[in-house]
Amino acid sequence: MALLGMLLGLLMASCFTFCLSHQNLKEFVLTSPEKSSTKEAERKETTAEEELDSEVLEVFHPTHEWQALRPGQAVPVGSHVRLNLQTGAREVKLQEEDKFQSNLKALKKGKRLDINANTYTSQDLKSALAKFKEGTEVESSKEDKARQAKIKRLFRPIEELKKDFEELNVVIETDMQIMVRLINKFNSSSSSLEEKIAALFDLEYYVHQMDNAQDLLSFGGLQVVINGLNSTEPLVKEYAAFVLGAAFSSNPKVQVEAIEGGALQKLLVILATEQPLTAKKKVLFALCSLLRHFPYAQQQFLKLGGLQVLRSLVQAKGTEVLAVRVVTLLYDLVTEKMFAEEEAELTQETSPEKLQQYRQVHLLPGLREQGWCEITAHLLALPEHDAREKVLQTLGALLATCRDRYHQDPQLSRTLVSLQAEYQALATLELQDGEDEGYFRELLGSINSLLKELR
Ligand SMILES: *[C@@H]1O[C@H](CO)[C@@H](O)[C@H](O)[C@H]1NC(C)=O
Ligand SMILES: *[C@@H]1O[C@H](CO)[C@@H](O)[C@H](O)[C@H]1NC(C)=O
Repeated sequence: MALLGMLLGLLMASCFTFCLSHQNLKEFVLTSPEKSSTKEAERKETTAEEELDSEVLEVFHPTHEWQALRPGQAVPVGSHVRLNLQTGAREVKLQEEDKFQSNLKALKKGKRLDINANTYTSQDLKSALAKFKEGTEVESSKEDKARQAKIKRLFRPIEELKKDFEELNVVIETDMQIMVRLINKFNSSSSSLEEKIAALFDLEYYVHQMDNAQDLLSFGGLQVVINGLNSTEPLVKEYAAFVLGAAFSSNPKVQVEAIEGGALQKLLVILATEQPLTAKKKVLFALCSLLRHFPYAQQQFLKLGGLQVLRSLVQAKGTEVLAVRVVTLLYDLVTEKMFAEEEAELTQETSPEKLQQYRQVHLLPGLREQGWCEITAHLLALPEHDAREKVLQTLGALLATCRDRYHQDPQLSRTLVSLQAEYQALATLELQDGEDEGYFRELLGSINSLLKELR
């Protein structure tokens, strides 16, 4: 039983180090090792295995002084073991009571452990344990028995502990560690395309959290993803943009870094060149996240010819889905600037610096010059209600800028009149269904007011 205690003590020690090394982490997530087994976790598991089965155990010889115990050292039963809180080391010395020493001596003198050196393999210990059980009893006092019972309670049987570990089947990993691992996977030249895409896909989940997205900056992970936009693989471009879109979203710190890291140019290059539609969709999403609420990026976007890039995009065949998103982006940018001005008028809280930034975004003149009044008007011919809704919104937001262009566009009036009839009918049906503030009625309202303005 004494030797069993020794073995169990070792197991406890390895468990203890494992737990200690994770003590300071502020955020814990649980991941199953099959899905995300880190090298670190694998190493730890094997270490524990080795300590149990194959590694040669060195037996520690305690003295009357406290001595630090090295990992892998076995402690004779009856020793005093304590944790030094300053150093984190486990320290051992001999028990003061003579009984334990004499017991130890008896144990050593006896024929039970017929091993010559100071090193035992765990197999030796197991066979010794077997002999010990069948053979001679150590004379033990009541006190000893109580102590051994206590040790037994403290050190649970190895099999039980192993079973617990297997059942738990978890590795404690922080979000930061996961992101580092995913970035390394993505950045590694030995990863397959599939592995890289999977890494980006997983990463996207983590960077939705603002803190995580900012942590991504701290170890250069964001730049690695931005550089992924340069990949020759359309799928890598697509999923890099997917991650970036999530990371930029309402996260000024990340947006600033991304501009400095050249993300804007790379996104525009992808939109301006031949690429699969799915890639362009995600890139457009990333562009929207980067520009929103970031007037400096909007200025750069205009300087880099972003409006021309978007114009070519919406004029290409088969890109109606993208066209509606582009128009929505423009609507957002126009109204964002308008709100910044309004807010500055209403409150004293808005930082004048931000307003100055918005004032340098010369979006509306650019839109007018580059034909966006006409482009937007033509998109009203799209068949989907929600696409029309977005286009109507944008036509309204551009009204002050585009009024004369709208007037000169006979097709626009015709489209509006036909839509008026269509939504009048739908709004009537809606009303019959008991909805007096319905969707179609709202659309009809926008159409009516546009027609009124253009009369
Ligand atoms: C990505 O890989 C490159 C080249 O292999 C290396 O220089 C760089 O440090 C890596 N970046 C990160 C964040 O791991
Ligand atoms: C990425 O591509 C752009 C051109 O599309 C090039 O100017 C830039 O140097 C490239 N960056 C990297 C890191 O390869």
